[in-house]
Amino acid sequence: MARTNLSEWLLHRQVPPKLAETMTSVAAACAEIAEVLRTAPIEGISGVAGTTNVQGEDQKQLDVVSNDIFIEHLRPNRHVSALVSEELEEPLLFERSADEGGLAIACDPLDGSSNLDVNVTVGSIFSFLEVPADDPGAHLLQPGTEQIAAGYAAYGNSTSLVLVYQGQASAFTLDASGDFVLTAATLTIPSESAEYAINAARERFWDEATRTYVADSVKGEDGPLGKRYNMRWVGSMVADIHRILMRGGVFLYPLDSETVAKGGRLRLLYEANPMALIVEAAGGRASTGPGRLLEAAPSSIHQRIPVILGSSAEVERIERLYQQL
Ligand code: AHG
Ligand code: MN
Ligand code: MN
Ligand code: MN
Repeated sequence: MARTNLSEWLLHRQVPPKLAETMTSVAAACAEIAEVLRTAPIEGISGVAGTTNVQGEDQKQLDVVSNDIFIEHLRPNRHVSALVSEELEEPLLFERSADEGGLAIACDPLDGSSNLDVNVTVGSIFSFLEVPADDPGAHLLQPGTEQIAAGYAAYGNSTSLVLVYQGQASAFTLDASGDFVLTAATLTIPSESAEYAINAARERFWDEATRTYVADSVKGEDGPLGKRYNMRWVGSMVADIHRILMRGGVFLYPLDSETVAKGGRLRLLYEANPMALIVEAAGGRASTGPGRLLEAAPSSIHQRIPVILGSSAEVERIERLYQQL
């Protein structure tokens, strides 16, 4: 069968040139990060950087390197007016002439960085927004429904790139020559599943809805959900969501008594929103518990949010538990 690469797919999907060129820049950044990760222990760029980011997390050297790679690929792209990153306190605004700019990228340059030193899948997550070229900085706080595209790369036993555009999510695999080859034209999440992903060590902090869902699941065939569940938690959102896109399941990082003061654990603009857009395009559902995740209105670029997403029937089950609270 003839192979379709990313540039052919961008033409075939009739992605407008501005967005297509910017998706290509982001894909090139991801390919370079994949390459850096492969030999990082040899190059001595494992471990902590000795710095903290705006969220108070200890940065890994590779968090910093990956952030730099995103900047290196996006700064020269004349369509890009702004870059929001987990690792940058303030948005980076680029000087563009009057007929340039208009796009903003929000990214998590390296997701799951606690898994770096143990050679477990990590990723990059990104969201594309339209912003006015003359004042990009004032238009970065858009709800997820306004994203014009989004995606992630998963650096696992192969490097996957997933892109969503106009309600369709597709997956590519990086080949030996550095080309992204289409390997799944349309991703679809089964509506039913029996696999959930949650950090169960946080049980003492959970709210009643989360507690009930997990308690019902572990009761198996004899419980109220009537089936036997399995549990997976990688600790890299990208890896957990990629598994759910491939075979179904539900991912939960709910609001709990410890994260409530911060509004949740995961970040809205560059973790939750892009993943929610992909999951909805694949027929899944993305929720905060009480409401649709993509409709949440951001009030700051590093805002956090509770995240429940995956197979639609499972997410609906959890939403019903929230309605009963
Ligand atoms: P990041 O490495 O970009 O800071 O994100 C880590 C996130 C996410 O990938 C993962 O699902 C979650 O943190 C894991 O949290 P716990 O350590 O609480 O399990
Ligand atoms: Mn981090
Ligand atoms: Mn992350
Ligand atoms: Mn990160």
